[in-house]
Amino acid sequence: MPRSTWKPCRDAIRIAPSLLAADFGHLAEAAHDLEESGAERVHVDVMDGVFVPNFTFGTDTVRVLRRATTLPLELHLMIVNPDAHLATFATAGADAITVHYEVCPNLHRTLSSIRALDCRSGAAINPSTPAQLLEDVLESCDLALVMTIDPGFGGQSLIPRTLHKVEQLRREVERQGLETEVEVDGGVDASNAKACVDAGADVLVAGTAIFKHKDGPRGGVAALQLALSKTAAQ
Ligand code: DX5
Ligand code: ZN
Repeated sequence: MPRSTWKPCRDAIRIAPSLLAADFGHLAEAAHDLEESGAERVHVDVMDGVFVPNFTFGTDTVRVLRRATTLPLELHLMIVNPDAHLATFATAGADAITVHYEVCPNLHRTLSSIRALDCRSGAAINPSTPAQLLEDVLESCDLALVMTIDPGFGGQSLIPRTLHKVEQLRREVERQGLETEVEVDGGVDASNAKACVDAGADVLVAGTAIFKHKDGPRGGVAALQLALSKTAAQ
């Protein structure tokens, strides 16, 4: 099966709907329907009940999603010991794999392993983790993900204090002359998308704002795009 096309960011803000807020009984349809929504990636939250107090998808689900959509799949691994599973997730169809700083004692090696598997590499930090801790591995990151909530559940409110870390990482990406994308994840909606982008985010993950939108996922993506177009116009 041909790999989906991963579009690097810098020319536009990308929206990555999180399937965590979709109907788990119809995940394949949800992923497929996003193709026409204007979203450019599908964000897949993998939870192990250890790093975070919740369980979600595994490699079999990723295989199903890979068949269901041509959109790139970005996996957000909220699991301990991700190194043990990188190859399996890559084979299952991941285009990007993001791991958490908090569970990777050898983060540089883990990010290099992800790239060696022909996937985009991502590093995520929790709200309590300082942004500076990513500075020395940014060169190895295609994505730097700032958690704007405590991970584990959708539907929480964005923690405003986390946005200063988006600013810090954006500055550092530019200072080092990198193409690393800065991504925000958690509580992102039309009311705060402008603040996220103003802080320096170029990928917005959104679950509830998209899948629970009154006009369905396409309405949710459109509402975020509208909020972003106002950002661009100002
Ligand atoms: C939570 C996940 C998020 C979550 C975001 O741990 O990483 O991707 O789905 O959902 P909302 O947008 O509802 O906060
Ligand atoms: Zn996520």
